Amino acid sequence: MSGEVGIGIVGYGIMGKAHSYGYTVAPVMRRLRHRPRLRVISGRDKQKVDAAAVAYGVDGSVTDWRELVRRPEVDIVDICTPPGTHAEIAIAAAAAGKAVICEKPLAVTYPQAASAVDAAGKARVLNAVGFNYRSLPAVSLMKRMIGEGAVGKIRLLRATWLSDEFVDPTIPFDWRFDRSMGGTTIADLGSHLIDLATWMAGPIAEVSGQSETFIRQRSDKAVTVDDASAALVRFESGARGALEMARVAVRRPCDFTIEVNGDRGTLVFEYARLNELLYGDAGDRPELYGMRRIRAEQQSHPYAADWWPIGQGVGYGSSFVNHLGDLLDRWPDGPWEPDFAQGAAVQAVCDAIERSAAESRWVDVREIVG
Ligand SMILES: NC(=O)c1ccc[n+]([C@@H]2O[C@H](COP(=O)([O-])OP(=O)(O)OC[C@H]3O[C@@H](n4cnc5c(N)ncnc54)[C@H](O)[C@@H]3O)[C@@H](O)[C@H]2O)c1
Repeated sequence: MSGEVGIGIVGYGIMGKAHSYGYTVAPVMRRLRHRPRLRVISGRDKQKVDAAAVAYGVDGSVTDWRELVRRPEVDIVDICTPPGTHAEIAIAAAAAGKAVICEKPLAVTYPQAASAVDAAGKARVLNAVGFNYRSLPAVSLMKRMIGEGAVGKIRLLRATWLSDEFVDPTIPFDWRFDRSMGGTTIADLGSHLIDLATWMAGPIAEVSGQSETFIRQRSDKAVTVDDASAALVRFESGARGALEMARVAVRRPCDFTIEVNGDRGTLVFEYARLNELLYGDAGDRPELYGMRRIRAEQQSHPYAADWWPIGQGVGYGSSFVNHLGDLLDRWPDGPWEPDFAQGAAVQAVCDAIERSAAESRWVDVREIVG
């Protein structure tokens, strides 16, 4: 290791914890060029943020993210607060000359996301969006196999994200139900699907969406986000796809799937079996008709050599360890991926789906970006 990199984490909630875990475990699992040091964490509640600093192994805490951004010992500002806060914090961090890692979605509207891209570009700082699922070993293997031609030319892609987070109507109103702070379900769950879809099959050109809010009031306040949405999509390549994201799917905890059908094969990832891929190859002997289950832990597979012996498996936490480890490996020269430009491109598709659902028509993504 050639030195330390100072990390400042904005927000101590679930993602503040997940990112702290990623920085702490990455140097244990793999040889990094730079050791991350958790310098400071911010949160508005002093008692809670102090407790989080102790629990997550952070040197100190502050109650205003602006102070964290100004601290000279912070090299990377890592934003783990609600989406409506992301662009403002990212722009301030870039202006202070800090590299920025921002949780998804990059913003709650495309113009906000584009302003974060501009700010990072002008300040010439490294920037990344927390699309951590790319860094799950099996998902990364799926991308590699597609690149190597395992499915041939992609014709169809379908992806779903089903959760039961909003099923109970007595859950009190919080930022997730507020469009301007939480963004939509399209942006919350769908942003991961859109990122993976474009990573694997190229840019999305056009969408036709539908959205519904089934529980319209919580704690006597109006809910301004969708409970569930879906979209048909046309990729620039000519491939077609379908995406579905819902937070009102009973007994679906975090059921995320992605499937591609090419002219020579099929690949399927299901989050409930996150160390595996299903693969069907049109070239197989007819008597083997069906899909084989690939254990994405073989030493030649992405990230496998960093983890446990084959058969032990990894979990959700590995996606943060792998993603943040990749970013630290490329510190300070980059490039970092996925970056803010890719985060903004995803947000444009989210906005297009929202507009399409509101106006009951196909929407070209260029309408949003243009
Ligand atoms: N990549 C993933 O797997 C994943 C999973 C969950 C959440 N997320 C994303 O991470 C981000 C944070 O989500 P979370 O689940 O950690 O939320 P959380 O509610 O658990 O934590 C949010 C944190 O932000 C703080 N906060 C709330 N409102 C704020 C405001 N107005 N200004 C400043 N700080 C504020 C809270 O005090 C808390 O520290 C969101 O963008 C969410 O979409 C990503």
